[in-house]
Amino acid sequence: MIIAPSLLASNYGRFADEVRRAARAGAEWLHLDIMDGHFVPNLSFGPGLLRTLRPLTRIPIEAHLMCSRPEVLIEPFAEAGANLVTVHIELGERVSSLLWKIKSLKKQAGLAINPPTSMSLVEPYLKQIDLLLVMTVNPGFGGQSFIEEMIPKIQQAQIWRQERDLAFRIEVDGGIDLVTAAECARAGADKFVSGTALFQRRNMRAAIEKMRAAAFEGAKNGGYRGV
Ligand code: DX5
Ligand code: ZN
Repeated sequence: MIIAPSLLASNYGRFADEVRRAARAGAEWLHLDIMDGHFVPNLSFGPGLLRTLRPLTRIPIEAHLMCSRPEVLIEPFAEAGANLVTVHIELGERVSSLLWKIKSLKKQAGLAINPPTSMSLVEPYLKQIDLLLVMTVNPGFGGQSFIEEMIPKIQQAQIWRQERDLAFRIEVDGGIDLVTAAECARAGADKFVSGTALFQRRNMRAAIEKMRAAAFEGAKNGGYRGV
């Protein structure tokens, strides 16, 4: 079970401190949302920010590219120090070459799917990916409510992973708190991106520990023996 705080919900006036705070609180990964104002109706961070933050901690950082033209951003984010780069399935036929590009830069490859998009579209790529990101809100903004209807998608991903003996992580992102983390873990998720529910806590260590415990508990009820 991996908890990945999303820096979108951090205090931008104190970025460096926020990164250290999350690392000290026991986060295993950090999640960086990249928005281009086109694929999603919001703008966020460029590779320069990642380059600045990267030396502050040893924990891995993932770049979630919510961008219409990730082909021009994969390399800059890889060079800036991303350990994993995620692109969206909604980009259609370009996905295969985008995943190949990420792998050719020796980075882990993630594939994300938005709430309205059918899971059948990601099925052909399962062997090529290290992580499947099931969006549990429509991307673009932090602090939105978890969309319950995404649970069956997580279950489908878990069935494919077991049946085909694959090892990709199943990550969820959007509206993840103690309750929804447990629900997603029960369905098969094993990596949890959370912004608001972690960065708005004064004691982030306690919040992360509780979320991890909730995820383990949910997984136990779902019969999944994740690590
Ligand atoms: C949404 C982003 C998320 C966001 C989650 O577009 O991809 O990573 O930071 O924020 P919370 O946890 O506040 O829903
Ligand atoms: Zn994200």
